[in-house]
Amino acid sequence: MAMALSNHKLSILVLVGILSLVLLLPNSDAAIAKYDEYLKKRAQESLEESRNAFDPDPEKVADDLNDQVSETLKTEKAGKRHLREGDCKATNPIDRCWRCDPNWAKNRKQLAECTRGFGHRTTGGKNGEYYVVTDPSDDDMDKPKPGTLRHAVIQPQPLWIIFGRHMVIKLKEELIFASNKTVDGRGAQVHIAYGAGITLQFVHNVIIHNIWIHNIVPESGGMIRDAVDHIGLRTRSDGDGISVFSSNNIWIDHVSLARGSDGLIDVIEGSTAITISNCKFNHHNDVMLLGANDSTAKDSIMQVTVAFNRFGKGLIQRMPRIRWGFVHVINNDYSHWEMYAIGGSAHPTIISQGNRFKASNNPSTKEVTKRMFADKSEWEKWQWRSEGDKFSNDAYFVESGPPIRHELLPLTDKSLIKFKPGSYAGRLTRYAGVRKCRAGKLC
Ligand SMILES: *[C@@H]1O[C@H](CO)[C@@H](O)[C@H](O)[C@H]1NC(C)=O
Ligand SMILES: *[C@@H]1O[C@H](CO)[C@@H](O)[C@H](O)[C@H]1NC(C)=O
Repeated sequence: MAMALSNHKLSILVLVGILSLVLLLPNSDAAIAKYDEYLKKRAQESLEESRNAFDPDPEKVADDLNDQVSETLKTEKAGKRHLREGDCKATNPIDRCWRCDPNWAKNRKQLAECTRGFGHRTTGGKNGEYYVVTDPSDDDMDKPKPGTLRHAVIQPQPLWIIFGRHMVIKLKEELIFASNKTVDGRGAQVHIAYGAGITLQFVHNVIIHNIWIHNIVPESGGMIRDAVDHIGLRTRSDGDGISVFSSNNIWIDHVSLARGSDGLIDVIEGSTAITISNCKFNHHNDVMLLGANDSTAKDSIMQVTVAFNRFGKGLIQRMPRIRWGFVHVINNDYSHWEMYAIGGSAHPTIISQGNRFKASNNPSTKEVTKRMFADKSEWEKWQWRSEGDKFSNDAYFVESGPPIRHELLPLTDKSLIKFKPGSYAGRLTRYAGVRKCRAGKLC
């Protein structure tokens, strides 16, 4: 214990040292063609915010979430009989916080209380008005029409964005958000598809909830308005579903993602305080990239919770692939990967708890994990730990580094397994992806 603690302190010291050396340079991954004064200022502010959002005690955040899962399942068991009437089957702590209310449409902002894991401070547009998107078009990158999603997301004030009807939004170019927004697709079937994807760059406090994102393709770039008072020149976009760039306090929940040209979700360049939960991923190669560059030391502040997601058919790799940061991968269901599920380089920390990993029949892809660009003598020091994961069809996780430090819950006899083991992953993720919610009915 004492040993683990001093290692921990040491790593914080090293981190602070690295961070104070990091220079803020535009990176090739940014689609920013021109770094003007406005963007430089935003970049500086964002990095400062991300540093403040970094949690010095990530093990406690992980244990807190484990604890909440246990409590949710306990109340479910105890209260089974009266839950029957409402037939509420929300089994994980995030869903339990809002999905048992048939009046969700009147109480939409309750969702802002439900964030868990590293993104737990995210409240999105909670303190703002509702904005109803009625127009799926996306024609004008400079002066977007009122009533379009693009017009909504560039506004400076907090907004809770909802949709007046079902729609498919084909983005002409990247959709670049301002801070303090919730995109809440409940009550309508909203697809962002066949065009560019979503970009969260130098922003904080964004919730993306209950929409489909699929068939995202690269677009040519050009002048794109990213705020009411700023328009900037962008290079070609990569075709990511959601790209999180130097941003913090982000929550992506109940989103169904498939078939992108690049990553489905990328989190890069010193982003942190992020939760990706209850999502469904299908038919894609590079699923989730957390950190894009082995030299980007500022990603050591990256802390991401990946919880209650379903990694389904047709996925190949990166669920996630991580560099530098700390990722808590908890109670996800992995039914397929063609290369590997969880991988990384540049000594990331990976805490894998209560997931279900089912390998394919290919004998050469049974390993869940993959280390890149490092010899064993190096990677055996990286902390990659599996607790309570369930493996089937000969799947296996290669562990390394020191054991998990349990802060909140000393693992004594009584609380030996506080996290819910992988045998629960099916139940915990059963309602992942977009829910087709109707007002007045359970969602
Ligand atoms: C977002 O909201 C928070 C809390 O209300 C506020 O402090 C912050 O300035 C807002 N951000 C922007 C960019 O307006
Ligand atoms: C990685 O970052 C380093 C340092 O900022 C930079 O020189 C290099 O070009 C980056 N590599 C890629 C592939 O972007």
